[in-house]
Amino acid sequence: MRTYTLPACILMAFTPAACQQQPHTEHADTIAAGPERQVGGPCECCEAWRDGLPGALSWQTTITPDGEPGEVLEVSGTIFESDGKTPAEGVILYVYHTDYTGRYSNGTASTTCGRRHGHLRGWMKTGSDGRYRFRTIRPASYPNSKIEQHIHPVIKEPGVREYWIDAFVFDDDPYLTTDMRKHLDNRGGTGILHPVRNKQGIWVAERDIVLGKNVPGY
Ligand SMILES: [Fe+2]
Repeated sequence: MRTYTLPACILMAFTPAACQQQPHTEHADTIAAGPERQVGGPCECCEAWRDGLPGALSWQTTITPDGEPGEVLEVSGTIFESDGKTPAEGVILYVYHTDYTGRYSNGTASTTCGRRHGHLRGWMKTGSDGRYRFRTIRPASYPNSKIEQHIHPVIKEPGVREYWIDAFVFDDDPYLTTDMRKHLDNRGGTGILHPVRNKQGIWVAERDIVLGKNVPGY
């Protein structure tokens, strides 16, 4: 398993993102009752997806507050069931990433893990077409590092405990080396984005996600 596909909280000693289990705040709207199937192995700090969960979720979201510095990025795609064909409804996609300086900055969540995800966090919930979309800024590599730019995703689907999938990474990132590409887990399918600038100068990219793909125990 390559560390760069894991949530930030278990990545690098020089990041402010080391994690520990913390109490979390549950939200009644989207938390399924009853036992959950546990898949995907350790998912340290993934439970922070619950921390700050908005009361109403849409299939799309804007993560960045007004005035957030950085290059605007819009990512979209379809989440499919494990057959790779059927759009998956009712799936929560939680994403978080560094700011334009490479830091998980200014976290205001109620839990330690949530705060370590910084302030650039977002949630979406798919409708019957499985679509998702988020607008944010392109994250930077961790300061003074050669860690590739990345956006961490966590999947929460009904009846299954949250699990991480491969980070969104960028094909045009020089730090995404050939060797790294060879060793990606491809959980949920490849996380490599191919961003292009649209006419408005915004980076746009697509990624489809297949639930459970390459996720141990799924
Ligand atoms: Fe990270």
